[in-house]
Amino acid sequence: SGFHTAAKAAGLTYFGSATDNGELTDATYKAFLSDSSVFGQITPGNSMKWDSTEPTQGQFTFTKGDVIADLAAANGQLLRGHTTVWHSQLPNWVTSGNFDNATLTGIMTNHVSKVIGHYAGEVYAWDVVNEVLNDDGTLRESVFFNTIGESYIATAFKTARAADPNAKLYINDFSIEGTGAKSTAMINLVSSLLDQGVPVDGIGIQAHLIVGSVPTTLQENWQAMADLGVEIAITELDIRMTLPATDALLKQQATDYQTVVNACLAVKGCVGITIWDWTDKFSWVPSTFSGQGAALPYDEKFAAKPAVDAILSSLGA
Ligand code: G3I
Repeated sequence: SGFHTAAKAAGLTYFGSATDNGELTDATYKAFLSDSSVFGQITPGNSMKWDSTEPTQGQFTFTKGDVIADLAAANGQLLRGHTTVWHSQLPNWVTSGNFDNATLTGIMTNHVSKVIGHYAGEVYAWDVVNEVLNDDGTLRESVFFNTIGESYIATAFKTARAADPNAKLYINDFSIEGTGAKSTAMINLVSSLLDQGVPVDGIGIQAHLIVGSVPTTLQENWQAMADLGVEIAITELDIRMTLPATDALLKQQATDYQTVVNACLAVKGCVGITIWDWTDKFSWVPSTFSGQGAALPYDEKFAAKPAVDAILSSLGA
């Protein structure tokens, strides 16, 4: 059986993959991505981000995002929306506009309303805010934090709820896989938002991991997050290695994927796992980390690596 079918049988809501518009011209790629027994959920890797959806102030373009949303609907797959408020992939007019608090707040709430509103009813969950924390647990000095202050986070969530009352609203970040200062800060932040009545439904754990270096504290950390009463999801899983991919590294990678899947299965409240694309052909890793790659379960030629059977076995298939 495929990842998603096995994940459902094991009690998860979905197993999914990120994708991107340019990749869909590869017919073999698209056919496998569209197999809903393998992927019950998809996430647009780029096409719902601010630079794609509002490249010019007040002018929204949903063409590329709609392609992904329509594909998910046609395939009967859940859709994760990614992402409305993030310091990266912002158009220059946002970062260099020197807006005052009230103006930038209006710009941000308009963006969240328009984007989430456009997809209302089509999205299972939105990464409303992305990467708001620094590694030491302090809040990142994005244009939003610097201009509006910490309240931009609560404002984004309240605006998102109004725009689509049925979407689960997530805060998403990296390096919150194992316990540590950043995970503690995430737990404290979400706890404080919930205390204030801010509509946060989930914590997204990106999980861009390294072969042989998966944290040993996944389960206890994710349990602590779920204990807040929110759902958690593994939103961008990949496990990279220094190339070339040897048999030993691929075997370790398979074990590492199992560690992640097993931890999610062990935590009630962990609803799903999304890999950050499924084939090494379209991974973001090599262009960002020189000499590293082979992070996904399928290689560049779409052949299954040992991780595929390992994931299925953890899912009980
Ligand atoms: O679309 C342009 C194309 O027109 C141009 O010719 C080409 C030349 O560089 O660039 C293309 O844009 C690239 C875009 O991906 C689409 O392929 C950008 O340069 C490139 O920076 C961008 O990378 C994306 C990255 O986010 C940017 O921050 C990756 O695809 C995407 O997978 C990655 O995803 C992020 C998540 O959103 C948040 N968490 C981390 C994760 C990995 O970085």
